Amino acid sequence: MTYITGFSKLSKDQKIEVVSSRFSNPTIVEEEFRSFHHPDEKLQSKFEEFSENTISNFFMPFSVAPNFMINDHMYMVPMVIEESSVVAAASKAAKFWKERGGFRAEVIDTEKIGQVHFEWKGEKSFLTENFEDLKIKFFEGTKQITANMERRGGGISRIELVDMTAKEPNYYQIKAYFQTVDSMGANFVNTCLEEFAKILKAYVAEKGHNEDDLYVIMSILSNFTPNCLVKVWVECPIEELGMIEGIAPQEFAEKFAKAIKIAHLDPYRAATHNKGIYNGVDSVVLATGNDFRAVEACGHTYASKDGNYKSLSDVSIENGIFNFSLTIPMALGVVGGLTNLHPIVKRSLEMLENPSAKELMMIAAAAGLANNFAAVKSLTTSGIQKGHMKMHLINILTSYNATEEEKAAAIRHFENEVVTFSSVREFLDDWRDKLIVQF
Ligand code: MEV
Repeated sequence: MTYITGFSKLSKDQKIEVVSSRFSNPTIVEEEFRSFHHPDEKLQSKFEEFSENTISNFFMPFSVAPNFMINDHMYMVPMVIEESSVVAAASKAAKFWKERGGFRAEVIDTEKIGQVHFEWKGEKSFLTENFEDLKIKFFEGTKQITANMERRGGGISRIELVDMTAKEPNYYQIKAYFQTVDSMGANFVNTCLEEFAKILKAYVAEKGHNEDDLYVIMSILSNFTPNCLVKVWVECPIEELGMIEGIAPQEFAEKFAKAIKIAHLDPYRAATHNKGIYNGVDSVVLATGNDFRAVEACGHTYASKDGNYKSLSDVSIENGIFNFSLTIPMALGVVGGLTNLHPIVKRSLEMLENPSAKELMMIAAAAGLANNFAAVKSLTTSGIQKGHMKMHLINILTSYNATEEEKAAAIRHFENEVVTFSSVREFLDDWRDKLIVQF
């Protein structure tokens, strides 16, 4: 590949041509990129504006997991995910728990955090003694930015000075806490922080300090929001779990609890375990136009907050009650960002009856717990491959252009057979040979 200059300045058509010309079959590739454009040009332009250097659209399945009962309310949950069996697993777990009282959920808090990182070469006492005064200026100086958010019930909750000099000479932070109501709040937080930095600079100058004493490094929100936290749980008497894959309820509950304990003890297992939680969470986060990278970064940091990375979910078996819970931080929004722009995101939110950000936190967490329950249930009973391979089989068959009839025959054949690319290929070859012979 040769180095390209000025790519971003090209028109979309030119970009498609430049990219396609690098393939061995440029005409076909160009057609393919274009074939994924939306027929409605206005809509297509809208999609293109989400990012830069856009040449096509990237399709992902938009699925639905019905029957999620959360706090006695029934939801149909939209999920965007490419991994087969995640939606099936979530739906199955939702149905299982609906029959046992459904999910319970509560939002513990929705606090967001941001920091101005700076160096201060003057006396520490200047900062500590003047911080109350500075705080007033921070609040006053950001009134225009916060007015709208305050009307909606949010705003800046508190501002602290953090002394980091024990870790790095002259390093301090202004750490601010926010409520952003139904928005994720990244723009609001960052705008306030940049204003704080300006106010700090002006204050220091006004007090006659040498301008070299203050060096603002950066102003940015933190994606670690340990107090933007939601808890979701399911529970029932152990007996009501019923027989699971031929395993008696008491044994199942105990084996399940051991699996959760392992995910608390061993980071290798914890990472996979938490990944299973994010299968559900991310699917809802994506379907509702939220930032899954922020949600994941936050959750994984939270999972290591006690010094070792561990499971986000927990289980207890006390007084004959099986209780499985997930406490997970996530900063979500239902206004702003993609929520107003992406037509399917709008539909996702409508499907969820236009939830508040708090309700969406509970729904996404319930999807996470559902997928975690389904995964650990399979792992501790039938094994994960049985269900996975069923879905994987469909993908393999599709990749071999199998007909509906061939798919149905393959599903029957592989009920108790091991699915691999070569075994499916062999099955299809045999099936097609037989058909030719019959013909
Ligand atoms: C696969 O996407 C997720 C699992 O590996 C989760 C787990 O192991 O708990 C099945």
